[in-house]
Amino acid sequence: MSVYETEPLLAQYLLLHYGTADEVLPFAFGPKSALDFPLRCVEDLVARIDIPASARALDVGCSVGRTSFELARVCEEVIGIDFSQSFINAALTLRDKAQLDYERPHEGDITLRTTAVAPDRVERERVDFRVGDAMNLPAELGQFDVVMACNLICRLPDPMKFLSRLKELVKPGGQLIITTPFSWLEEYTPKDNWLGGLPDKSDSFLGLRSALSTDFKNELTQDMPMLIKEHARKYQWTVVQGTRWRRKG
Ligand SMILES: C[S@@+](CC[C@H](N)C(=O)[O-])C[C@H]1O[C@@H](n2cnc3c(N)ncnc32)[C@H](O)[C@@H]1O
Repeated sequence: MSVYETEPLLAQYLLLHYGTADEVLPFAFGPKSALDFPLRCVEDLVARIDIPASARALDVGCSVGRTSFELARVCEEVIGIDFSQSFINAALTLRDKAQLDYERPHEGDITLRTTAVAPDRVERERVDFRVGDAMNLPAELGQFDVVMACNLICRLPDPMKFLSRLKELVKPGGQLIITTPFSWLEEYTPKDNWLGGLPDKSDSFLGLRSALSTDFKNELTQDMPMLIKEHARKYQWTVVQGTRWRRKG
């Protein structure tokens, strides 16, 4: 079973996407700038100025859905796709009921009952969540003004296969947003398919750029802190690379 189907990961991602500052970081110190990562993926990386009123967006690897909801503030139709049935079930509950109760790890066997609440003033019915595989996206998805893939590519068996599908998914002039920590692990991606992180191809960003450069122009590259809470006193602090690419043509 994929780790993304398990209760601990579901709780981690519900907290990452919907946790309040008090729930995630209830200390007088700590990396506050790393809070609200899924919200910042849209606020900091999507260029809102040129998004048409009738825009369509695709969020691949949407997890429990926060980024998809944030995209619905600026796009009329949003499709969120994830491999994990339990993540998609949680996202659908948040869409339909606006909230979801869950237990998050605190200490040992102790968990805390927590409520994830969908963001305010979002037309949630604009968002459709589906189980799907980024390695084999259906042809009938059509084309999108915005495609997002946050922290997905280093979890895929063949990132190049996904990247080469993007020119069909993003409309000419549309935006592609990719964030990634380039956490290459053979458990997810055979070494031959890593975009970088190897002595003979060290820089993963160069690998990403060369995969995309025929069809996309890199418009923005920035470092973005992210905080995943494992339990009351343990966190993963990560700095991902956020990029925006403009589809040529
Ligand atoms: C590291 S998490 C990132 C989740 C979310 N985008 C975020 O940034 O919080 C990777 C996500 O990709 C999903 N995923 C992994 N392999 C996938 C695949 N082949 N197709 C679609 N989603 C996949 C996982 O279920 C998980 O939700």
